[in-house]
Amino acid sequence: MAPKPLPEGKGGFPVPSHVAIIMDGNGRWAAMRGLPRIAGHRAGADAVSRCLHAARDAGVDYLTLYAFSSENWRRGPAEVADLTSLLRYYLRYKVAELHRENVRICFIGETERFGQDLVEELERTERLTAGNTGLTLVLALSYGGRAEIAGAARRLAEAVRDGKIEPSAVTEDVFSRYLLTAGMPDPDLIVRTSGEHRLSNFLLWQSAYSEFVFLDVLWPDFDESHFSSMLKIYASRERRFGGRPG
Ligand code: FPP
Repeated sequence: MAPKPLPEGKGGFPVPSHVAIIMDGNGRWAAMRGLPRIAGHRAGADAVSRCLHAARDAGVDYLTLYAFSSENWRRGPAEVADLTSLLRYYLRYKVAELHRENVRICFIGETERFGQDLVEELERTERLTAGNTGLTLVLALSYGGRAEIAGAARRLAEAVRDGKIEPSAVTEDVFSRYLLTAGMPDPDLIVRTSGEHRLSNFLLWQSAYSEFVFLDVLWPDFDESHFSSMLKIYASRERRFGGRPG
């Protein structure tokens, strides 16, 4: 299942088809300024827009952003409520703009935990943008990699029980069709900001052959220059997918 060779970008170096980002450091950004954490998340939402435009301009096909992890529910109720209303605001005011820019928007995660009205808003957004042919923005919301894998195993077990598939037919390829990311390419590049070096339950299955880049910038300060430097780091890596150099 090794991905196809990547196309060259405008700069003449290979551009990852799928970039996934762990946006970290909003709280520290706010604390450094004596501001409440929500101010960091709001500034983080502005960084999302900068990142999206940089990704589109670079020719990236998929941009997956870890906006809310399944562990984030353990934060205080006030911060969860702030993050949820920020997301609601983003959907209400940004989706029309992204739709005009031909961006397709998808969501992965246990989104039902946000409640029926937000789920309906997410479904509307997916339907509205489904035919767009530009960048695909995947927002991971209430997402956890282990829960995703357990869910896929559960659905596959049900298919076996119902006689729809033979156990001997379960391959990596078949299994990946039961994941929330079915039909999407695996991420070529996974980036985490804020100087932390953890995957934090993000895309555990899909990251098997991803390149990792850790940036020392707090997410709200992330801009086009960080995007282009991570692409340069990526371009300098030699990807062998477990094989030997030729
Ligand atoms: C991690 O920073 C970030 C989050 C938990 C939320 C990410 C959300 C956004 C960037 C804004 C909303 C996004 C959209 C798409 C509208 P942290 O709070 O863990 O930072 P810290 O480690 O410095 O405390």
